[in-house]
Amino acid sequence: MDKYIVVGNPINHSKSPFIHTLFARQTSQKMEYCSQLVALDGFVTAMDAFFAEGGKGCNITVPFKEQAFKYATRLTQRAQLAGAVNTLKRLDDGGVLGDNTDGEGLVQDLLHQQVTLKDKRILLIGAGGAARGVILPLLAQQPQTLIITNRTLTKAQQLATLFAEYGDVEALSFDALGEQSFDVVINSTSASLSGHVPAVPTSVIGQQTCCYDMVYGSSVTAFNQWAQQQNALKTIDGLGMLVGQAAESFMLWRGLRPGAKQVQRELRRLLQ
Ligand code: ATR
Repeated sequence: MDKYIVVGNPINHSKSPFIHTLFARQTSQKMEYCSQLVALDGFVTAMDAFFAEGGKGCNITVPFKEQAFKYATRLTQRAQLAGAVNTLKRLDDGGVLGDNTDGEGLVQDLLHQQVTLKDKRILLIGAGGAARGVILPLLAQQPQTLIITNRTLTKAQQLATLFAEYGDVEALSFDALGEQSFDVVINSTSASLSGHVPAVPTSVIGQQTCCYDMVYGSSVTAFNQWAQQQNALKTIDGLGMLVGQAAESFMLWRGLRPGAKQVQRELRRLLQ
């Protein structure tokens, strides 16, 4: 049977085995998907062993995404620009393809939730790895503009420069956002994980603004609570992105697009 794994450290929390097992059932694919804890200094050894035993593909989570980027013998354009890999696929020629499906997972979730991106004004808060991974897929939707804002402005500026040739992208400090509001506001910062909200002006949220927090939990995230207090039109958490990135990986491995909705419903139930 074709074997797939997700590796990380820690890995207990990973929902990927649950998601991919449901995808496989849905699409009648004969495959096995497990999680594997990898020692912090053991990534390359673990990958070599997995692929030597005939493993077909692998998801990579914290803290190995940059090491997976280096491990791949070939990279998709989106992985190249993300600087990180969350999906590896064994190629017929013995090489290993590295992809990053996080950004497409976000975009697909936004589109499923009827959030239009084309010709819209998007604000991306944060300039770490999570932000970098979603910029190219967001620009591919041809927004009117994508503004990256970050507590540390220089990091936002570096990302804006890196992606300048792919669309209308600009960096602004929190203060420089002034009074403008946006159609879509995406929080990629890790602030929500500690119950904090980035100090962006409340004016970024207007009555038509859809807000997306890339993290999720059993209750409304701190950022989405704040957005609701500012009367945002819609608030969405990152559970759909998690399922979306998994669906993109599955597609890369098996050539079939699984249905995300049912899996997302079941995951949400598990979280309660
Ligand atoms: P990740 O890979 O999850 O993106 P990261 O690379 O450590 O993690 O980046 C974390 C991001 O969250 C950064 O943009 C960080 O802002 P700084 O670059 O100024 O550090 C942002 N962040 C974390 N806590 C924050 C907070 N309390 N307020 C605003 N931004 C915060």
